Amino acid sequence: MIVLVGFMGAGKSTVGRALADRLCLPFIDADLAIEQAELRSIREIFTVGGEPEFRRIERETIARLLVGPEAVLSLGGGAVEDPDTRRALAAVPVVFLQVDLAEALARTGDDPARPMLRRPDLAELFTHRQAAYQEVATVTVTVGGRSVDEVVTAILGELLALLDPAADPVGD
Ligand code: S3P
Repeated sequence: MIVLVGFMGAGKSTVGRALADRLCLPFIDADLAIEQAELRSIREIFTVGGEPEFRRIERETIARLLVGPEAVLSLGGGAVEDPDTRRALAAVPVVFLQVDLAEALARTGDDPARPMLRRPDLAELFTHRQAAYQEVATVTVTVGGRSVDEVVTAILGELLALLDPAADPVGD
C-alpha cells in the first residue's frame, strides 16, 4: 500500500492514478470509496450528518481500505486529523503532496463538491493540517510548478532512496 495525503487541490487523485499506473497497482480514492459504500455524495453526507458524521465514515472506510488488497490509496485532505487514522498510517509508506494554499485554491476553484472550502477559517485549517501531514509522511514531495509525471518520478525517487541506504545521505 502506498498512501497519498495532502490538502484539497494538491493533486492526490491525479497523481495517485498516474503513480498506480506506473506501479501496475490499482488506484483507490478514499472519497469515492465512501460515496460508493454510502450510495450518496460527500456533499450529502455533510448536509445531513455534518462533518462529524463524515469523519466517522471516513475513519472506518480508511481502516477497511488499509487492510485490503495492495493499491495506491489517496485520502481526503482532512483524513489525517483523525488520531486513529494517523496511528494506522504509521504502518505504511505515506507520501505527503505539499502544495501552497494559493495554488491549492487555484486548482480546486469554487468546487461545490468540497464543503470544507466554505470554511471561513480555511487558511488556519491549511496551516494547522501541515503538522499532521508531516507527522504521517514517510516522504514529502512538493507539487508546485511540476507536471504530474514529474511529481510521480519524484515520489518514486524518494521511495527508492528509502530502500537503498547508500542513496540516503543521512543513512548509515
Ligand atoms: C476534505 C477534503 C475532501 C473530502 C471532503 C473533506 C477536507 O477530499 O474528503 O470534502 O476536509 O479537506 P480532497 O482532499 O480529495 O478534496
